[in-house]
Amino acid sequence: MQERPYSQAAENNKVPILAVLQKHCQAPGTLLEIGAGTGQHAAWLSGRLPHLHWQPSDMAANLPHIRQWQSDPGSRALPPIELDVAAQWPAGPFDYLFTANTFHIMAASLVEICIREGCRHLADRGKFLVYGPFNYDGQYTSDSNRQFDQWLKDVDDNRGIRDQEWVVEQFAREQRRLLADHEMPANNRLLVFGD
Ligand SMILES: C[S@@+](CC[C@H](N)C(=O)[O-])C[C@H]1O[C@@H](n2cnc3c(N)ncnc32)[C@H](O)[C@@H]1O
Repeated sequence: MQERPYSQAAENNKVPILAVLQKHCQAPGTLLEIGAGTGQHAAWLSGRLPHLHWQPSDMAANLPHIRQWQSDPGSRALPPIELDVAAQWPAGPFDYLFTANTFHIMAASLVEICIREGCRHLADRGKFLVYGPFNYDGQYTSDSNRQFDQWLKDVDDNRGIRDQEWVVEQFAREQRRLLADHEMPANNRLLVFGD
């Protein structure tokens, strides 16, 4: 079997992410994960949140990786589906949306679409959880985030760490507000939006 892709960051952050999901996703329901990447979060988190139907999604090229991780004992994730946030979304509504480390990879215009379409596919009283690095008051929260942002822009100048306030504004346009902003390891945050 071909060696499956592996993200050390996903291994490092899965336990703290679980703690936040356990707090904010207590009611049973369906969770759509956007930009699931390797599929490590889907495989591990789904097994520890058995009251959730965990639906991983990503661009088509990543679906084979996600399927490989799903064969892990303990994974309860549903088979992954293709979702480019700029294209057709699955019908929904979803009780929860979760995305990790995607807002600095997508161009800002795609982040806007992701938030708008995500909110429109979110159930009433649903929650949208966003993990990743953010700037506050136009400032980096660490030197490592500053260096990371420079590296992202060197690769593609549409990429970059977003301002938390700008993200909050995009959600406000869809009548969703910031319910919580959790400090996470390695200068990341987990933002929770709802109504
Ligand atoms: C840095 S990876 C993060 C993967 C995983 N969530 C994690 O935390 O390890 C960024 C992910 O965003 C996805 N992505 C980028 N543009 C996207 C788009 N337009 N629609 C959906 N996913 C997208 C990529 O395919 C990739 O899986």
